[in-house]
Amino acid sequence: MEQTDGESSLQQRWFADRYAANARFVSDLAEPLIENLAPGRGDLILDLGCGDGALTKLVVDAGARVIGVDASIDQVMACQNRGIPSAVMDGHNLAFNEVFDAILTNAALHWMTSPDVVIDGMWNALKSGGRVVGEMGGDGNISRITRALTEALTRRNLQDKIIFPWFFPDEADYRQRLETRGFVVDYMELIPRPTPLPGAITAWLDTFGEQFLFLVPELERTAFKEEVAEDLEADLFDPHGRWMADYVRLRFTAIRPEEA
Ligand code: BEZ
Repeated sequence: MEQTDGESSLQQRWFADRYAANARFVSDLAEPLIENLAPGRGDLILDLGCGDGALTKLVVDAGARVIGVDASIDQVMACQNRGIPSAVMDGHNLAFNEVFDAILTNAALHWMTSPDVVIDGMWNALKSGGRVVGEMGGDGNISRITRALTEALTRRNLQDKIIFPWFFPDEADYRQRLETRGFVVDYMELIPRPTPLPGAITAWLDTFGEQFLFLVPELERTAFKEEVAEDLEADLFDPHGRWMADYVRLRFTAIRPEEA
């Protein structure tokens, strides 16, 4: 499978209503990140990949000043509807210079496939002494789902068209990237976290897997999703009748050290 470097022509689309229906768990399960962030009253914080602002709002409620950025205009509008200042911005092009006390980023960095460019932008956005508190998909994340998608596409002889849309590093890889830029890694942990989904795995595929689904002719997509679901059922459909996604989180805190 090819790894993208930046842009792909089959872009995942984000719709705030679809996200709210199928992916509310993304912000709900990230609340421990707010504890790690420990937002101070008056801190200026960047939420990188703010989505619809559900998690961002918790930081606002803690008394910090927050600016959200996200590549999706639909998500940014939903975030603005919560009264949070936010702008459309690709994380590869962060346009800030030493203004933030902290950066919060949840479930966004793995969509940014040129990580060193993003790390550089985060460094520049932070004041010296500032911190990044983040969580992203880590090594092994959704490997069972990815295998089922790849095998279903291979049965249609479409395997060469797959452009892997995500970056799921292990601890050593991401630590090295951060340290190479000058960050001091205060905490890093790879956490397997099987995650109950609010609906069927096919809804998850619709919400997050468009770069795979779009390879299949539209009229065949429903059958394709059902075939993937059938393959996954034995491993990801639990005895309580819930679909579980095989998530692995890479959670970290990194500091831009004070200048000597
Ligand atoms: C994640 O949060 O780990 C994730 C969600 C959708 C697609 C890929 C990864």
